[in-house]
Amino acid sequence: MAKRVVLAYSGGLDTSVAVRWMIEEWGVEVVCVLVNVGQDADSSESFEDIQTRAMAAGALECVVVDARQEMAEEFCASAIYANALYEGKYPLVSALSRPVIVRHLVDQARKFDATAVAHGCTGKGNDQVRFEVGTHALAPDLEVLAPARNWGMTRADSVDYAEKWDIPIRASKEKIYSIDENLWGRAIECGAMEDPWAAPPDEPYTLTKITNEQPVELVLSFKAGLPVAIDSEPLGLADLIKRLNDRCGATGFGRIDMVENRRVGIKSREVYECPAALAIITAHSDLEDLVLERDLHHEKARLETRWAELIYDGMWFSPLKEALDSFMFDTQRHVSGDVRLSLAAPGLLRVTGRRSPHALYDHGLATYDAADTFRHSDSEGYVKIYGLGVKTWAARQGAKNATPPRP
Ligand code: ARG
Repeated sequence: MAKRVVLAYSGGLDTSVAVRWMIEEWGVEVVCVLVNVGQDADSSESFEDIQTRAMAAGALECVVVDARQEMAEEFCASAIYANALYEGKYPLVSALSRPVIVRHLVDQARKFDATAVAHGCTGKGNDQVRFEVGTHALAPDLEVLAPARNWGMTRADSVDYAEKWDIPIRASKEKIYSIDENLWGRAIECGAMEDPWAAPPDEPYTLTKITNEQPVELVLSFKAGLPVAIDSEPLGLADLIKRLNDRCGATGFGRIDMVENRRVGIKSREVYECPAALAIITAHSDLEDLVLERDLHHEKARLETRWAELIYDGMWFSPLKEALDSFMFDTQRHVSGDVRLSLAAPGLLRVTGRRSPHALYDHGLATYDAADTFRHSDSEGYVKIYGLGVKTWAARQGAKNATPPRP
């Protein structure tokens, strides 16, 4: 019996060619799994069209899994708790979706009695790391195959290969951008953007085209760390994200243009559009400023960086990430309240107000007017003792002469 492989199928050129190539070169049976993580939002073809393509390429079956709720309520939610921005900028769009896909890939591998899973990534990116490390974490017995790392074809060769095998692809040799999208945003690579100095063209953006020049104000309400309503209208997380992508993206907010460090040692110029993700993280971390105690807040900020790195590096299913999730979750119990966001074209977003029943902001302590409740005299001894070490050092060793001359 031929070995059976379950392939993470997107419907794009590489994964379509991968189906036929693995059958021809490795003599395997291929089951395709298409995981819906919200990429249907603005795609112009249906999942049925994509399934038809998988079958035309030679797949035994093409299973479609709807993972949108899971993507929102488990993966985006954890990213919100952790204010997750890799290298301070990138909300982990692709990095968050890969473990969702891996989970379903492994599930389907079990259902179809497969001994291997496969992905269509090349050897240069992060996604191969996420697929493989994720699979090994969930199913150490499964083999992971990466045909695109073996076949040595250029994009033009792949188009020829698809034509030769009558695989109805939409891509052409001229297709310039590589786009990965889901509920949390879109990642745009290739084309003119491979030159870090070249300004990104307007063309590949879809979520952040300016369709509303007027300033917009909206109030985002949070409960225990998650956004639950826009302007008092309660919404489930997946719907709320979609709504914010529309409302914030309409003023052009949400574009990111950065040079990023990939796990495999390559610096790459990356362009993203993530209106909802950035608006939510901005509002969420602002609300935390109001409600988190200082030491907790500072330590959380340090661990947020680590959390984002782990997810970027494909460690969603790992003991450190699980432990950090427990920490993040624990910090969220009082992160409830409202944040007012003000948006203006082109692409500006500001927080203009925040409130919470759990606020640690105390007007009596903060005010400079007559309502002041702070005992100023308490500060005298406190500041003296706080600065005592420096005072002693200055007296004995001399602040002025302490700096050695520069070589
Ligand atoms: N650089 C981003 C990341 O590693 C985006 C990757 C986009 N993936 C893709 N297959 N086009 O998360």
